[in-house]
Amino acid sequence: MNARLDHSTLTSMVDEQPHEFRVATAAYRGPEVFAQEMEQVFYKTWIYLCHESEIANPGDFRSTQIGTRPVIVAKSREGNVHAFLNACTHRGATICREEKGNTRAFVCPYHGWSFRTSGELIGIPDEARYHENFDKSDKNLKPVPRIASYGGLVFGSFNPDVEDLEIFLGGAKQHIDIWLRRTAGSSYKVATSHKYGYEGNWKFQSENVYDGYHPGFVHRSAFNTVRKFEGSFENRALDVAVRQQGYTRGYPEGHGTLEAGAPLESGGIDPAVRQAYTDKLTALYGADGAAEVLTNRQFLIFPNLVIFDFNIRVIQPIAHDCTEVYSYPLLIEGAHDDINSNRMLDAQTRVGTAGILSADDIDVFAGGQNALKTEVFEWITLSRGLGKEEVKPDGERVGVYSDEAPQRAFWRKWCALMAAAS
Ligand code: FES
Ligand SMILES: [Fe+2]
Repeated sequence: MNARLDHSTLTSMVDEQPHEFRVATAAYRGPEVFAQEMEQVFYKTWIYLCHESEIANPGDFRSTQIGTRPVIVAKSREGNVHAFLNACTHRGATICREEKGNTRAFVCPYHGWSFRTSGELIGIPDEARYHENFDKSDKNLKPVPRIASYGGLVFGSFNPDVEDLEIFLGGAKQHIDIWLRRTAGSSYKVATSHKYGYEGNWKFQSENVYDGYHPGFVHRSAFNTVRKFEGSFENRALDVAVRQQGYTRGYPEGHGTLEAGAPLESGGIDPAVRQAYTDKLTALYGADGAAEVLTNRQFLIFPNLVIFDFNIRVIQPIAHDCTEVYSYPLLIEGAHDDINSNRMLDAQTRVGTAGILSADDIDVFAGGQNALKTEVFEWITLSRGLGKEEVKPDGERVGVYSDEAPQRAFWRKWCALMAAAS
């Protein structure tokens, strides 16, 4: 058992002054902080489980994790969504070893106990050998006590008293709504994930997704390569090292966005198909509404779900210095093949495992973690735009594209949760 960090140690890890916002490097380091993060962040708040399209039919299931706890999400015969700990109630074996599929029942590989997709224990091999008073009814799979969805995104929480999902989503809800409008009245279908891992803390990836300060530097060579081949990124201001156009936003609920203020254009779509898509959006939402929908936008739902225009990314903490990332391309049901193949191409070439961006970033994360091991420096600084951002009455903070407003929102929420029960 790791020693628990006390309240003052945790609250002192985030130091906010009018002129500077600092985070202790200790917050990225060591099993103690990590164990406490699992308890006080991952098991206390809502965590994304899967997209509804992945469990569309009775018997469909997905295995995933809430923090380091393995979880199964499944649709029952009755069509209800259930989530439970992926652990057999006999002796704890992992009951589902597949990432996704469809089944009538989960059968434990160890001694063959079987459970309905609703979690109910239905079969014990050679049951007669148990005592006549042996109670099966309390041996159903252990449910995740809260489950809810918004906009096709299914979340679960191990905290029975967690606030309602829509309260938790707060300011991020409007961005989910805009992202949904990209389907032009249809819905998303999630494709098979790309996966990668790195030897660094999970928070490096969370902080990176809305970091508009870094692309002109760490991705410069990637952008130069793209420029040579044209097509993708054709409308982006690639020559601007530090971009001011566009926005970053941080919300009191810990969520944050990066908005380019312009569309992310991808090559390869027939101009007529692209125009038809834009026309459909315009008919549905008006010219301004369509422009808003097409604006390049990526946001983090605290603590570990990332929504890009073209994919969903899940940041999975494994240990304080080990993280896995699952990246799910998003197809639009019923859209023209050009649009969907372009979305797959974006996943493969830009944000996927072998894409031009992720490799640059994870190299930085691993390097950062290695440097933190030395404990030679105590604080990192997330102060860019502090005191210059717009602070709205409801607590939303708006900065320019290269500000660190969303990272500060993340850490304020992290600190509040970590300090809450210690
Ligand atoms: S541990 Fe699952 S049947 Fe024994
Ligand atoms: Fe990046």
